[in-house]
Amino acid sequence: MRSIWYAMTINDIDQRRVALLSALEAINSAEMLESFKLAHLVRKGSIAEMFEQLKNVSKEDKPVVGKVLNVFRAEIEEAFKSLEATLGSAKEVSKETIDLSMPARSVIVTEPGHEHPLISTLNRMVGIFTAMGFDVAYGPEVEDDEHNFEKLNFAADHPARDMQDTFFVKPTADWSPDSAMKPALLRTHTSPVQVRLMESGKLPIRSVMPGRVYRNEEITARSAACFFQLEGLVIDKGISMADLKGVLLEFARQFFGSDSKIRVRPSYFPFTEPSVEIDVSCYLCSGKGCRVCKYSGWLEILGAGMVHPNVLKACGIDDEIYTGYAFGMGIDRTALMRYGINDIRMFTENDYRFLRQF
Ligand code: PHE
Repeated sequence: MRSIWYAMTINDIDQRRVALLSALEAINSAEMLESFKLAHLVRKGSIAEMFEQLKNVSKEDKPVVGKVLNVFRAEIEEAFKSLEATLGSAKEVSKETIDLSMPARSVIVTEPGHEHPLISTLNRMVGIFTAMGFDVAYGPEVEDDEHNFEKLNFAADHPARDMQDTFFVKPTADWSPDSAMKPALLRTHTSPVQVRLMESGKLPIRSVMPGRVYRNEEITARSAACFFQLEGLVIDKGISMADLKGVLLEFARQFFGSDSKIRVRPSYFPFTEPSVEIDVSCYLCSGKGCRVCKYSGWLEILGAGMVHPNVLKACGIDDEIYTGYAFGMGIDRTALMRYGINDIRMFTENDYRFLRQF
């Protein structure tokens, strides 16, 4: 009787190959896999039978057909083994039991974000002033000479305009002295916001102005090229130095502690007359002298003064009717003191180990 495998061809083998591979693909349980094995891979299985039929292939075709048959068997066995491995490991998993009585894993701690220590210091200060009736104003960090210097009564040759202090913004290539656009700089203090407020023409003024300022300074543990200031400005009829002292004493008491004292020393700023510097008694040693206050008992916290009549005039305010005071303080050093930090660069390094402590 003529076997169906009589004169088995390469084409026959290929058809079997496609059939067995798709049969393997359909297998999704260990039982199905086992029956595949019994049907095709055991000693009496269909693949063994194909080898059996090789004897019917003509002598000259035999080497090629035999080779193809070997490759075919290797491929099916390989596919079978990898399927066995995946179904086997699935079996392992399904053997795993879930212990419902086990205590829940301790809460996964997700750390909530928080304010940066500088911003929190700034917000605390702003909060004290807003509670006293001040509003909050902001101005641009890229300023022009007019607002940063000229209207603040800086003489044309004032050293603060020097390249060493001020970062100038390079004008575009087509800029000329007649261009409408004024040469720009990064503001060196928050005082230009005073000018913008006064120019707006709305009186009286009672504002604080927080923001970043820039100076071309060497970056060290105590000084940075970019830092924060909080500016204050009050313009009204009959404002005097006594108002300034009263407000700042109240600020010092709320910020540094209720037994704080302030000390006023003469100073110089082009935009205030008279100009003063104000110190607060050291909150750590209550004025006895310690490392924080460098054994002086006092902390230098701000510059202030009565707004210079030239500034009022330049901003369109009648200096016969109105007077006012202004103050400006650095935030970074105060934040250093507040948190007992000894290097100002920590604030901007973004080291998470540092930041997460606050
Ligand atoms: N703008 C001054 C500075 O940066 C501080 C200041 C502000 C002084 C307002 C007096 C009045 O040093």
